[in-house]
Amino acid sequence: MKIIESPDYAHMSRKAANIISAQVILKPTSVLGLATGSTPIGAYRQLIGWYNKGDIDFSAVRTVNLDEYVGLGPSDEQSYAHFMRVHFFDGVNIDLKNTHIPNGLEPDARAECQRYDSVLRSLGRIDLQLLGLGHNGHIGFNEPADCFTKGTHLTELSSTTVEANRRFFEDVSQVPRFAYTMGICDIMQARRVVMVVSGASKARIVRDAFFGPVTPRVPASILQLHRDFTLVADREALSLVERE
Ligand code: GLP
Repeated sequence: MKIIESPDYAHMSRKAANIISAQVILKPTSVLGLATGSTPIGAYRQLIGWYNKGDIDFSAVRTVNLDEYVGLGPSDEQSYAHFMRVHFFDGVNIDLKNTHIPNGLEPDARAECQRYDSVLRSLGRIDLQLLGLGHNGHIGFNEPADCFTKGTHLTELSSTTVEANRRFFEDVSQVPRFAYTMGICDIMQARRVVMVVSGASKARIVRDAFFGPVTPRVPASILQLHRDFTLVADREALSLVERE
């Protein structure tokens, strides 16, 4: 595990964008695993800036997103499909046909999970997986559980996740309770994993996930076993690690 410590959110975002852009420059046909949440927004913004300067070309890149809320479609402003267009895809020259996100409008969970697993298989190994970190240690929507789940699955969001995500909705009753998410095996098979974490509210979970035992109760802890995992975090997020 490598740790890149940043003084602040802007620096963290630039460092993560640096790693992603190097990946795309070295392999223009890269498969990028992408994440939502507020933390990666700065990195996406930086990549759009470099694209506008002519420094990066996304035309041959393929992407696969981690997760999507069940019940929300691309036209819903709170969907992750909408998030990705607004924060990244519409700002670069990526071919939308090469972008993949679970279909939140598919009511048949088995069919959707099988479909997404076959999308993942057809793309081959993810070259670089970008991750954020949930306050309870979730990655994608792999919530704390008794065991790790390998492939794409339907997950019930924990009360802490519903609470954390309510800020994006008018009312807590509107926060979806279920999501489709890529599994832990899909994430662990990525050639390289980069996680962005920012802010004091994540300090405790950063310490538990990366300096505590590997356990499905803290899903991100499995990344300690990944051969090429880089944590890009700001000082606040690393504050408890430094103290110890
Ligand atoms: C959601 C996403 C995760 C993300 C997490 C943290 O739950 N499914 O992929 O890592 O939010 O979000 P934030 O970066 O806003 O703290």
